[in-house]
Amino acid sequence: MLTEFHYNTFPQEIIFGAGKLERLGEIVAQYHWSRALVVTTRSQRANGNLARVENALGAKLVANYDATQPHVPQKNVDDATRLAREHNADVLVALGGGSAIGVAKATSYRLQSPIPILAIPTTYAGSEVTPVFGVTRERDGMSGTKRLLRKETVNDPRVAPRVVLYDPQCTLDLPRELTAATGINAFAHCVEAAYSITRNPLSSAAAWYGARRIYHALPRCVENGTDVAARTEMLQGAYLAGVSLSNVAMGLHHGVCHVLGGTLNVPHGLANAIVLPHAIRFNADVCAEQLAQLARVLGIEAEGDEIAAQELAKRVAQWTHQMQLPSRLREVGVRETDLDLVAQLAGQSKMVQNNPKKISDGELRKFLAEIW
Ligand SMILES: [Fe+2]
Repeated sequence: MLTEFHYNTFPQEIIFGAGKLERLGEIVAQYHWSRALVVTTRSQRANGNLARVENALGAKLVANYDATQPHVPQKNVDDATRLAREHNADVLVALGGGSAIGVAKATSYRLQSPIPILAIPTTYAGSEVTPVFGVTRERDGMSGTKRLLRKETVNDPRVAPRVVLYDPQCTLDLPRELTAATGINAFAHCVEAAYSITRNPLSSAAAWYGARRIYHALPRCVENGTDVAARTEMLQGAYLAGVSLSNVAMGLHHGVCHVLGGTLNVPHGLANAIVLPHAIRFNADVCAEQLAQLARVLGIEAEGDEIAAQELAKRVAQWTHQMQLPSRLREVGVRETDLDLVAQLAGQSKMVQNNPKKISDGELRKFLAEIW
């Protein structure tokens, strides 16, 4: 049991329920916001969610920015910031996954005085309940035909969304692959929160029960995306996962996944599916108690904590395999010659350095080779 802890919270209203999106105009009016800039993606326009947002906002909508790309490129932030200034927006309505919400956070941060964000998440990444965002900038130099990219992370409570509107109906169109990928991302947040060096009683409880909902609901959502009950349970799991993540330090798993995403453009969720079982296994001795507790909440019984932790790693690998997620870095376009750079950048990652079990540069290179 923890005997000491410390964490910060920030004001945030959470509204959860199927069909709640239709209340958006009313919610915006309650906060006396009247000039909304919607930050979203083309796919939200195509699937009809943007039309629902436009309808609900009515005259309070001043502009749409729907060109959001994955990994929050600097150009998206520049363009959305220009629009926000031009239209004198007083709220950013972020509709989409981690990238749309990330662009909204980075835009708010860029403005002289940050403007509030109302987030409507359509994936399970959890960005809506955190004060963190990353912006991807291009770096000099080339690695084969791939551009070298680097993601820089900012943590500022002023950009944490003021309101989060969770409507499971907005997730019914989330494609199978993205459902699986962002769902495993949320699950991975629970795992790393459970053993985080900065965990607290709230983050641990959110991590265990978020993981349990996701463990049960995600395969059903992948199987049938229009199952509203499964989507509802999954979105609640994603909310809890976001809460668990929001004020604790992530570790080895996320450090490695961020380098793979920022440097080689490996989609975050796919990187998660590949790296997670190995990160659990690596941490199984030092974090045996925390991982065994998580395993028990998931219904995994085993004699002894370390064995339960190892069993958890095995079950997670089976679970991701069942959802047809990749299990090797080579399956997602990583070349063996990329591993040195990934190991070098991961070694500098604050998250990797915050892993509860220390990992040397040599061990990191070996860890990557095993996953490749
Ligand atoms: Fe993540």
